[in-house]
Amino acid sequence: MIQLLRGMKDILPPESGKWEELQHVAEEVFSSFGYGLSITPVVEKTELFVRSVGEDTDVVSKEMYTCKDRGDESITLRPEGTASIIRAYLSSPEWKSKLLKTWYWGPMFRYERPQKGRYRQFFQFGLEAIGTDSPHVDAELIYLLNHFYKKIGIDDARVEINSIGCPECRPAYKNDLVAFFMSKKEELCGDCKGRLDTNPLRLLDCKNPSCSSLLVGVPNIQKYLCNTCTTHNERLLKDLDKLKVVYNVNPNLVRGLDYYTRTVFEFVTDKLGGRQNALGGGGRYDVLSAQLGEKAVPSVGYAGGVERTIMLMSELEGSLNKIPVYVAMMDDETLETYLPLILELKKYSSEHNKIKSLVFVEDDFKSRDIKKHLSRADKSGAKFALIAGAYELRDGLLSIKDLTKKQETKIKVDLNDLKKTVHDICGRIFEEENS
Ligand code: HAM
Repeated sequence: MIQLLRGMKDILPPESGKWEELQHVAEEVFSSFGYGLSITPVVEKTELFVRSVGEDTDVVSKEMYTCKDRGDESITLRPEGTASIIRAYLSSPEWKSKLLKTWYWGPMFRYERPQKGRYRQFFQFGLEAIGTDSPHVDAELIYLLNHFYKKIGIDDARVEINSIGCPECRPAYKNDLVAFFMSKKEELCGDCKGRLDTNPLRLLDCKNPSCSSLLVGVPNIQKYLCNTCTTHNERLLKDLDKLKVVYNVNPNLVRGLDYYTRTVFEFVTDKLGGRQNALGGGGRYDVLSAQLGEKAVPSVGYAGGVERTIMLMSELEGSLNKIPVYVAMMDDETLETYLPLILELKKYSSEHNKIKSLVFVEDDFKSRDIKKHLSRADKSGAKFALIAGAYELRDGLLSIKDLTKKQETKIKVDLNDLKKTVHDICGRIFEEENS
């Protein structure tokens, strides 16, 4: 058998049901806060990521999937979504210089060492608000994400937040940071020795224990912020207090990509285990468009890792809105007579999948005896079975069996009024599900 590439993952049913659910909640929450969907290519000119994410970052220097296309152009599978969105914004005559609030969802590629919660192809959902320097937009973004994580049942997601200043105030901090670590240079890991020259801020979040133990007494960036950065930060934190969003100011929080200014934040949880505790991260990138040679467009955004979010949702049985249902018709006549009803039910479920709905599993439209049906239903993970045979057909009935509670009720079938029957069946299942 040809094997899957290392660090890649197939997503098949039933796991894909959780993906659908997450995508649905994302769409619902993000669009109601005014973020519209953007779709950009998964492959871009390499230069886009080199200039935005930054040449000295791990992502660009070690992790990109880059190759030449047949026209000898260097192209890269996107390692993240922000650079593409800002490129799309800057090249769109319609949006350039307006406020664009947008969200996206799709695969990203980083050649990292795979481990739990870390893949080489992974999905992100992201939000970007481009063309605003208002701290209230930062606050709104954090507020809506807080709401989003709660809505999908990840109650313990916490916000870690910091301001890393701007090109005005950060250089003084960097100088002092380098001076601080210079005296400890010999104790730093190989990567951090290099970062002293290239990317000193990253010394603050090296996961190597020998480096993190050196952080005692490290200069605090908050003390170096210029007036404008301080005001921005204070307004944001004041908003979060008003909005009752719980956060932790972490002066050592920095991000792995180079384009951030002022606000940086992450949503973290202890439940992921291992070293990957970030559900996602983001912040302001007011000078990113200038790095791309355009005028500066103040912006803020966030991206969450889909696999990590799904891993936590998997532990939240019962949060799923889809109820798996198995159809068990015991003879051909019953199957043929009830087929319009079964298909109407499926159509209804597809139309009403924005709320709690049914999802049909293991349906090959074959009649079987009840024992075989129930064993298949069991293996499929169905919660309910819709059962009918000669007896039900004669009396115009359908049995609804709750496979967990092992209880059965019967419902009247009116083949001349399928909509009503479908409505009654769904109503009964939702009632049983909640009881
Ligand atoms: P990032 O911190 O590089 O930020 O990635 C955001 C999230 O994507 C991470 O917190 C993690 O959940 C997930 N992630 C990253 N790498 C992997 C991986 N190899 N496997 C699984 N999940 C992963 C960004 O990408 C920025 N574009 C976020 C942003 C948007 N900033 C402003 N706007």
